[in-house]
Amino acid sequence: MSEDYRWWQRGIVYQIYPRSFMDANGDGVGDLAGIVHKLEYLRWLGIDAVWLSPIYPSPMADFGYDVSDFEAVDPMFGTLEDFDALIAAAHARGLEVILDYIPNHSSHRHPWFEEARASRDNPRRDWYLWRDPAADGGPPTNWLSNFGGSAWTRDPATDQYYYHAYLAEQPDLNWRNPALQEAMLGVLRFWLDRGVDGFRIDALRQIVKDERWRDNPPNPDWRPAQGPYQALLPVYTTDRPEVMALIGRMRQLADAYHDRVLIGELYLPLQRLVAYYGSNGSGVHLPFNFHLILRAWNARGIAALVDEYEAALPTGAWPNWVLGNHDQHRLASRIGPAQARLAAMLLLSLRGTPTLYYGDELGMQDVPIPPERVQDPWEKNVPGLGLGRDPERTPMQWDDTPHAGFSSAQPWLPVAADHGTVNVARQRVDPRSMLNLYRRLIELRRRNPALAVGAYRAMPGAGELLSYSRVAPGQRIAVALNFGPESLLWKPPNGPGRILLSTHLDRVDEPVRDAVELRGDEGLIIELP
Ligand code: NOJ
Repeated sequence: MSEDYRWWQRGIVYQIYPRSFMDANGDGVGDLAGIVHKLEYLRWLGIDAVWLSPIYPSPMADFGYDVSDFEAVDPMFGTLEDFDALIAAAHARGLEVILDYIPNHSSHRHPWFEEARASRDNPRRDWYLWRDPAADGGPPTNWLSNFGGSAWTRDPATDQYYYHAYLAEQPDLNWRNPALQEAMLGVLRFWLDRGVDGFRIDALRQIVKDERWRDNPPNPDWRPAQGPYQALLPVYTTDRPEVMALIGRMRQLADAYHDRVLIGELYLPLQRLVAYYGSNGSGVHLPFNFHLILRAWNARGIAALVDEYEAALPTGAWPNWVLGNHDQHRLASRIGPAQARLAAMLLLSLRGTPTLYYGDELGMQDVPIPPERVQDPWEKNVPGLGLGRDPERTPMQWDDTPHAGFSSAQPWLPVAADHGTVNVARQRVDPRSMLNLYRRLIELRRRNPALAVGAYRAMPGAGELLSYSRVAPGQRIAVALNFGPESLLWKPPNGPGRILLSTHLDRVDEPVRDAVELRGDEGLIIELP
């Protein structure tokens, strides 16, 4: 049955932040050759696809999300030949490779922007967004940068402002310009021709802005602790109606190749999120669903979320779930190590493509960053609110050696203090480790069509209990999750069952008759008759 589904439906995506995964050349920053060394590990873990955060040439003002050449590899990560070798090595092991695609902006060092800013009549001027100053000489609108301050920077050479949704070093591209559109679609073609299996599309809700340049309204619920960007509602700078036609062009291009996937980065409420599936396959295949990260972590809230999401999905749309990424505090720090095991079971037993963030399979935690080692521009611009993203981007913990087996040199961000115990080498041989829990969950999902692609059915739950079943022809599997520290009883709906897996990894094949006790923080996967 699973065979009837595409790889990006039945498979599991694993996000690699290349700077922090594995450093093969000893400069303290991860690289492509390092990733190749670790493909065997990924195969052992059982995932199906890797998504690489940006590997393109970049001044690294936003660590690769400021691209100065969309069709090359930054020397820090390797060469195009290294990239080809990575694709070949991944494909040889049955792993797909997804790249980050950054259509919203380039680096200010991109030759396009250097030309655009040279004069008002440069042919590339209109590839970016330029406006005259307001009457008082200030920015043309009240639009705010996601990383603090105005989203407009005045360029003295031509005395106009340019728009940047993020840093001034990341000027936004003008997707209303047909030549820019062609150039950026050409970027997709360049990498598809090289064999990549899909893209995660950065800042997708932001690529078109209001035609009439209207001011954003104030956010009545804003609290300063949320950071200055949240002070306005971004109604004129994000999720504009014109975006769907542009996505349609990207989709048409991807569909001209065999079996490729487009995944959109979309922080949006559920009802808006699902609009990005488009009608009749004109949207992205997977609008990233971040709501497990955004909602409060409790059984009733998560149960409601799953029901709302399942109900909101348009016909034929394939769901997906995410627990962590390079912009969010580590899962184990957000909800604690015990609940992180439960979350792993939830993620890998829900209906829809799961995306894992590197290191979450070890239970890696946020790493405190001393002020002198802060790298993230957001933390530098808006300090002290906990918005910085360095804590979740620290080196992968491979072993207990001084740099955690990540590098022979001092890494670009500090290694976690707990790497002596929380590391791959140790967890591989510990049968009850988080790593082995992930591996067992992945294996179970792969072996059981009900878990991989079966229907989702909510089951009754109260208090700290969340339970549901997954159903495929001839197979019914229940999942019961205890979100609290106290034990509770779960009753199978009809007839006896059998435990396939516990988050504690100590109960297998135990029969379940009238009721089964879930210990605090325990989750069970149970085969039903
Ligand atoms: C979203 C990316 O995930 C984030 O890391 C980046 O800073 C912004 N987009 C800008 O590209």
